[in-house]
Amino acid sequence: MEKAIQAASVTIENLSLAFGTTEVLKGVNLEVEPGEFFAFLGPSGSGKSTLLRSIAGFGPTPRGRILIAGKDVAGLPPWSRDVGMVFQSYALWPHMTVAQNVAFGLEERKVARPEINDRVSDALALVGLSDFAERRPSQLSGGQQQRVALARTIVVRPKVLLLDEPLSNLDANLRTQMRREILALQRKLKLTTIFVTHDQEEANTMSQRMAVLDQGIIQQVGAPMELYDNPANTFVAGFLENRKEGEGACIPFAQGHANFPQERKSRRGPYRHSPPECDAHRSWEEGIEGA
Ligand SMILES: Nc1ncnc2c1ncn2[C@@H]1O[C@H](COP(=O)(O)OP(=O)(O)OP(=O)(O)O)[C@@H](O)[C@H]1O
Ligand SMILES: [Mg+2]
Repeated sequence: MEKAIQAASVTIENLSLAFGTTEVLKGVNLEVEPGEFFAFLGPSGSGKSTLLRSIAGFGPTPRGRILIAGKDVAGLPPWSRDVGMVFQSYALWPHMTVAQNVAFGLEERKVARPEINDRVSDALALVGLSDFAERRPSQLSGGQQQRVALARTIVVRPKVLLLDEPLSNLDANLRTQMRREILALQRKLKLTTIFVTHDQEEANTMSQRMAVLDQGIIQQVGAPMELYDNPANTFVAGFLENRKEGEGACIPFAQGHANFPQERKSRRGPYRHSPPECDAHRSWEEGIEGA
């Protein structure tokens, strides 16, 4: 079985980045704890992908510092940073089998063949695709391809897993299933994970803490429920509030549930309890236990 990877912190200090004259990250400071499941949430264009790509080492070099497990990664290429990134498009090699796709990163790193074979079969077992090793990506469903992308990233044993909206192409049922699978995998490997999404329910149910971004600035960091209860400013309040109305009365969180009556008197201090209609969501935590 794949061994647990030693969890690493991610520290971001005063990070800024401009495309031409447009500043898209403006002095970002953030500390992600070892083994934490952390979400970047924010509207389209707020800088979520740019921030994630900067951590991975893709794109222009930002100003400021990024430390992974306390080590400054300035100047290091993506493959030397101990991070694994899963992009929104699976980007699997169509002419290779599933096993060859998963082995690719290990071949690049000149790992010996017997070890490659062992690690590929471990990684495929971990994502439940042992029986699919010889198939080509075109012979897999979307969710299975997604799991191959995950296996391919995990197999190189990154210290930090970066996921950029990896579920956005999947239908609702498959999304729910993949959320559980990613969480179970993250717990099993104790892997520091940063997950980008503009889907608030996804951030609420999966993350221990999240950062809400707007216009290249982190507006607030905290546990999802804390942000609902005490939004730091009108942007966060408005952003969460909008979605709340769309979601109806029951908002599931990784840590529990919240009920927001449709007619609330104030933006602050939402009424919270666990009504019967929230019971369906209780399994978020239970469903992944023992996985
Ligand atoms: N290569 C680039 N050149 C110029 N501008 C860019 C480039 N990449 C991103 N941007 C701009 O930077 C800003 C942040 O983009 P980013 O992709 O980080 O947003 P995002 O929060 O991930 O949005 P989405 O939810 O739509 O994926 C946007 O205004 C975008 O237009
Ligand atoms: Mg993006």
